[in-house]
Amino acid sequence: MPEQDSASNVANAERSLHNDFAHSYIRRRGRFTKAQASALERLTQHYRLDTQKINADSRQLGIEIGFGMGHELIAWGQEQPHKLLLGIELYQPGIGSMLSRLENLAIENVALLDQPAQKVLAELAPESVSEIRIFFPDPWPKKRHLKRRIIQPQFLAQMLTVLQPMGVVRLATDWAEYGEWMAEHFAMNSNFTCELDAIRDPAVDESNQIKDLEPDLSEDALEVVRGRTKFETRGEKLGHRIRDFTYRRTS
Ligand SMILES: C[S@@+](CC[C@H](N)C(=O)[O-])C[C@H]1O[C@@H](n2cnc3c(N)ncnc32)[C@H](O)[C@@H]1O
Repeated sequence: MPEQDSASNVANAERSLHNDFAHSYIRRRGRFTKAQASALERLTQHYRLDTQKINADSRQLGIEIGFGMGHELIAWGQEQPHKLLLGIELYQPGIGSMLSRLENLAIENVALLDQPAQKVLAELAPESVSEIRIFFPDPWPKKRHLKRRIIQPQFLAQMLTVLQPMGVVRLATDWAEYGEWMAEHFAMNSNFTCELDAIRDPAVDESNQIKDLEPDLSEDALEVVRGRTKFETRGEKLGHRIRDFTYRRTS
């Protein structure tokens, strides 16, 4: 192959990877408080895990994608200390906030991956994850931006690859049209079975705890899956209804 062709193939492959992972759409920086900036600098190395180490870890694995400020991830880590929980996020002030709370609470079963979720999933061992949580992902409401949504057929295929048989995906959104999009995309994939599709109207129901069965089938205790997240509160103030889903990998 002529050198130029090979170089342009590499450039095309990189461009396609870039588009697939939508790196450029994600806001990494933002306004930091002093505490967030200092926590980010001091603690990132301590809490960041690489995928090789994760793949070698024998604990049950859970993932939260786009943890924002990390409140739900930390609550999950405290509730299930026997699991290794991976927080995937790129928004640095949020990462700083979460790391500082991890340190203050001396939590050691939560790890950080500050890489796009699509890249992380591509590197995780097949059938290694028991649960994936994605709460209030960016809705990208404009038609020309729909391809930027994280829920895409290819991303569902990636989740299926890393999920153990009977593993679960939990999702929440306050954006009605994205809720429909999620339902349609999961319905198109016959390997997933819907176990929960619940809509809450905050004007009528003020409860803020989503409870569900433990995904580990050996237990049947109801666990608190999440409290009210920052973006949920924002949606509620706009009068949005909140939709929660649970999908299980059944084949
Ligand atoms: C709307 S916020 C929701 C944050 C939080 N879950 C909540 O409910 O308050 C979505 C988050 O997902 C993160 N995000 C978007 N795409 C991502 C990706 N491909 N990989 C990792 N994080 C991503 C963004 O940085 C952002 O912080």
